[in-house]
Amino acid sequence: MNPTDTLETAVADLEALESAGRGALEGAGDPGELEAARIEFLGQKQGRLKTAQERLKTLEPAARRAYGQRFNQVKTTLESLLESARVRLASRGQALEGIDVTLPGVPPVLGHRHPLTQTTEELTEIFGRFGFAVARGPEVEDLWHNFDALNIPQNHPARDPLDNYYLAPPGGVESLHEHGLWAMLRSQTSTVQIRVMENQPPPVRVIAIGRVYRPDTVDATHSFMFHQIEGLMVQKGVTMADLKSVLSLFARAYLGEDVRIRFRPSFFPFTEPSVEVDMVWHGKARWVEMGGAGMVDPNVLRSVGYDPEDVSGFAFGLGIERLCMRRHGIDDIRLLYQNDVDFLRQF
Ligand code: DAH
Repeated sequence: MNPTDTLETAVADLEALESAGRGALEGAGDPGELEAARIEFLGQKQGRLKTAQERLKTLEPAARRAYGQRFNQVKTTLESLLESARVRLASRGQALEGIDVTLPGVPPVLGHRHPLTQTTEELTEIFGRFGFAVARGPEVEDLWHNFDALNIPQNHPARDPLDNYYLAPPGGVESLHEHGLWAMLRSQTSTVQIRVMENQPPPVRVIAIGRVYRPDTVDATHSFMFHQIEGLMVQKGVTMADLKSVLSLFARAYLGEDVRIRFRPSFFPFTEPSVEVDMVWHGKARWVEMGGAGMVDPNVLRSVGYDPEDVSGFAFGLGIERLCMRRHGIDDIRLLYQNDVDFLRQF
């Protein structure tokens, strides 16, 4: 027994302990500080309250009851202070959760336009600068616009049912012999040339961009559906030189100043003379066909009521996928249709 330990000093120490504990528990600014204060004051092994409890034994038996009562009050007070500090810090954490400005942000995922859409927009813009307006035509087309008016004869292989998507006539396939072939998914955007000229007198300067359909087996360079850009310019005095300059200017604008293109003599029923236009495939020493072109055949001008003695024109049709692939270094056309987000994100 420690004779110098009187009830007065022991209770005074208890009071000091209580106010120190209150300060620590109320002042704790985060869960870590609160836990440290809990261990210091209320810790089961070496907490200051525990030590104060053990002091009971050092007091005279007569003083123990009073000390014990005071001790219990202090203990209860500190325990409830601990509890309210926990509540206080927990609710503060919640309030901050939505507005913790130090957290890295969650960037919203932004979509963007498909590379083919970007290509068509850019082509429209380039030809717009050259004075070409945009024309449109239907994807379900009649045979007049897809073939006849374009000077494609009845027995021409381009009409082969194996090379086109013909639609069943209104009475079903059984009525084919009665109606004949009736409508189809257009196989080329040249159809729009006819529709434009049927609806307006010269001068004409238009492009048409859209889907075309051919039953090709899908591989790295073929698809049963792809996109073309058609161009048509008809007025007095248009020549092959105009065609060559427009396509050369276009190729430089879209593929770059250093692009090389060439014109090869070719044949199309709707142009005379006709050429095929090639471009060098990204950096490699390989020519790839970009499309066809030529001077509008007089028969085509006549079929829409134009006078070939009065006006002349050029036309061209280019593959949009080819242009887009050449521009971006894409080697497989299928990538453009798979909607693989990792692929699309690159453009
Ligand atoms: N319509 C042709 C095709 O799909 C491309 C074409 C060639 C369009 C020559 C034209 C042209 O306007 O003059 O293969």
